[in-house]
Amino acid sequence: GGITTIDPGYKNTGSCESAITFLNGEEGILRYRGYSIEELAEKADFLEVAYLLIFGELPTQDQLNKFHSDIKEESVVDDDVKKILDAFPKSAHPMGVLSSLTSALTAFNPTTVNVNSEEDMYNAIVKILGKFPVLVAWTMRKQKGLPLNYGDNSLGYVENILKMMFEKPNEEYKQNDILLNALDKLLILHADHEQNCSTSTVRIVGSSHAGLYSSLAAGISALWGPLHGGANQAVLEMLEAIKEDGGDTHKFMNKAKDKSDPFRLMGFGHRVYKNFDPRAKIIKVAADDVLADLGIEDPVLDIAKGLAAEALSDEYFVDRKLYPNVDFYSGIIYRAMGIPVEMFTVMFALGRLPGWISQWKEMRARKEPIGRPRQIYIGETLRPFKEISER
Ligand code: CMC
Repeated sequence: GGITTIDPGYKNTGSCESAITFLNGEEGILRYRGYSIEELAEKADFLEVAYLLIFGELPTQDQLNKFHSDIKEESVVDDDVKKILDAFPKSAHPMGVLSSLTSALTAFNPTTVNVNSEEDMYNAIVKILGKFPVLVAWTMRKQKGLPLNYGDNSLGYVENILKMMFEKPNEEYKQNDILLNALDKLLILHADHEQNCSTSTVRIVGSSHAGLYSSLAAGISALWGPLHGGANQAVLEMLEAIKEDGGDTHKFMNKAKDKSDPFRLMGFGHRVYKNFDPRAKIIKVAADDVLADLGIEDPVLDIAKGLAAEALSDEYFVDRKLYPNVDFYSGIIYRAMGIPVEMFTVMFALGRLPGWISQWKEMRARKEPIGRPRQIYIGETLRPFKEISER
C-alpha cells in the first residue's frame, strides 16, 4: 500500500540508531561518545577527537601514536591528482574542487572502493585522513597562486595542516600557537553533529554500498549549500555587505523578517537547537580571544556583535527561537587567520571529516538497509499518450 503521511525535511523522522553523537536541542547539549563538547574543546586535540568518534573511545598514547603514524604514511597524493587540480580554473569554488578531488581519490586508491573487512576499513580511513588535509591545503594554495607543497611529518596533525596551508616559498615557516589552538578548537567543534544534511547524505550514499570516498564527496556537496556549511561564507559576505551599506544592522534585521523577501540572517537559527547552540558559545569566546591575541580590530566583528545583540532581543527571532549558530562566529576566526572567505566551508569539511567517517563506518557495521524513502504521488492520474502533432 501507499504511504499516507510525509515529513518534509525529515523534521520528525529518525533515520537510524547511533552511538556517536548525543544532541539535546532544548537544553543545548552536545556530546561525542558521551564526552561534552565543552570538555573536548578544552582538553583534547582534533586527532584524539577524530579517533574517539571513529573508534568509540579516547585513544591511549600508544594508540594515538600508531594512528598518527599510519595517517602520516598516507599523506602523499598521486601526482595525477595534481594534474586534475591544475585543470581547474583559478576561479573555481574550492568546495567544488574539493568534492571532485575527493571523488578522484577513488581512482588512485582502488582498494578503498569495496570495503569488505576491518582491515580494508582501517586502511580507507587512515588514507583519507592523510590525504584530505593535502587536498584542502592545495585547494587554497591553488586559489592563492602558491606552489603545491607537502607538510612536515614531524609536526602534529593540525600543526601540519597550518604549515601546508600557509607556508610561503623562500620563507621559513613559523608556527603561531594562537592560530593553532583556534583551528584545533574549530575543527573539534565541527567534527560531528549527528544526522545533519551532509552526514545523512554520506550515510544514504554509503547505504547502497558505494565506497567511503564517493560517499564523502557527496557529503561535501551537501555541506556546500548556504543553509548548511556554506553558511559560514554567507555570514561573512552578509556582514561585509552590512558594513559596505553603512553598518545599519536594523535595516538587515527588517529585511530578514520580511516574508516577501527571501533574505535570511545567515548564521541564525538551527533545525535542532532551539535555545542556544553550545558550539556558538565556545566559539564566540574563541573569536574574541583570537582577535585580542592577534591585536586585530575588525569592524565586521562589531557588526556581528551588534546584530547578535539586536536579534536576541527581537520578538521575531525570540518567538522563532533563532539564535546565532556555530557558523556565525567561525568565519570571523578564519578571516583573522588569513583564510579566504571561499575556503571557509572547506575548513568546515576538514573538521566534519571524522564525523562523516564514523557515521559511515557505523552504518556499515550495523548492516543498515539501503536508504530509500517513500513519497506521496501528486501528479496526473493515468492519461492516454498524445502524439507529438497533437501537443
Ligand atoms: N533569518 C530569518 N528568519 C529565519 C531564519 C533566519 N536565519 N531561520 C529561520 N527563520 C524563520 C523561518 O522563516 C520560519 O519562519 P515562519 O515560521 O514565520 O515561517 C521559522 O524561522 C522556522 O524556520 P525554518 O526554515 O522552518 O527552520 P528549519 O529548521 O527548516 O531551518 C535553518 C533551519 C538553519 C536552515 C534556518 O534557520 C536557516 O536558513 N538559517 C540561516 C542559514 C544558517 O545559518 N545555516 C547554518 C546552520 S548551523 C551549521 C550547519 O548545520 O551547517
